[in-house]
Amino acid sequence: MANQLLKGKKGIIFGALNNMSIAWKVAERAHEEGAQLVLTNAPVAMRMGEINELAARVGQAPVIGADATNEQDLTRLIQESTAHFGGKIDFILHSIGMSPNVRKGRHYTEPNYEWYKQTLDISATSLHKVLGIAYRENAMNDWGSVVALTYIAAQRVFPDYNDMADAKALLESIARNFGYHYGVRNKVRINTISQSPTRTTAGSGVKGFDGFLGYADQMSPLGNADAGGCADYCIALFSDLTRFVTMQNLFHDGGFASMGVAPEVVKNFE
Ligand SMILES: NC(=O)c1ccc[n+]([C@@H]2O[C@H](COP(=O)([O-])OP(=O)(O)OC[C@H]3O[C@@H](n4cnc5c(N)ncnc54)[C@H](O)[C@@H]3O)[C@@H](O)[C@H]2O)c1
Repeated sequence: MANQLLKGKKGIIFGALNNMSIAWKVAERAHEEGAQLVLTNAPVAMRMGEINELAARVGQAPVIGADATNEQDLTRLIQESTAHFGGKIDFILHSIGMSPNVRKGRHYTEPNYEWYKQTLDISATSLHKVLGIAYRENAMNDWGSVVALTYIAAQRVFPDYNDMADAKALLESIARNFGYHYGVRNKVRINTISQSPTRTTAGSGVKGFDGFLGYADQMSPLGNADAGGCADYCIALFSDLTRFVTMQNLFHDGGFASMGVAPEVVKNFE
């Protein structure tokens, strides 16, 4: 299904941990569509070396380690990427999320607040840092596009999503607010995609994930959107076909966000 929608475009993909990662699928699709890529992840997440396998599949893309909370790492990443591309960046995928409180089973009402800060820093403020450095370094081409991945727990309560819900609310706000500044200066658009629950390493870390996946699937008229579909949507947003879409939270969820009640679910209570 390749249409060279990203021909000549250059992008940085954050967050490909393994072949289940949404970012992994986005990198593969972006390559198919003619983009040149730089891959990045936290150095600790690269120790298994799986990202090198992806790099080989997407045109020997350079892999540059960067902790997304560390401004020095991010500055080096942006500088090395523009040097590699021999020019500015056209698109960035922020596909990063982690909560120590979720990982260690702390209840929402009783978090470890140091971990809570880390949740916000890794999962949300990191987007601000990436954008801030790209903005300062003037590293993005006019009409560039930035996409960050989010979840509907930013707007509605999903108790087991824990402090990640607060992080996603912040992430979506950063996309809107930075979208204003970057839009005015460089016509760079910034959006979040609110994705269905998807079986990945981060997704499966949420308590009761399997039951929830089935519930969301039945609540969604089209069923849960899969990672491949999410990658397709990212490609559309990186392409020139969506140049005036910005500062939006875009649901990619098979219709889940608009549902109140689904008979398929209610019948379990009759
Ligand atoms: N899987 C789902 O159900 C689902 C649903 C909606 C949104 N999302 C979002 O999609 C995004 C990608 O997650 P995924 O489901 O593909 O899982 P994943 O576990 O494959 O990806 C999460 C990535 O975040 C990276 N990361 C963690 N800490 C980092 C740091 N300090 N610096 C740089 N990178 C760091 C990890 O190394 C990993 O590559 C996340 O923002 C997640 O919240 C996932």
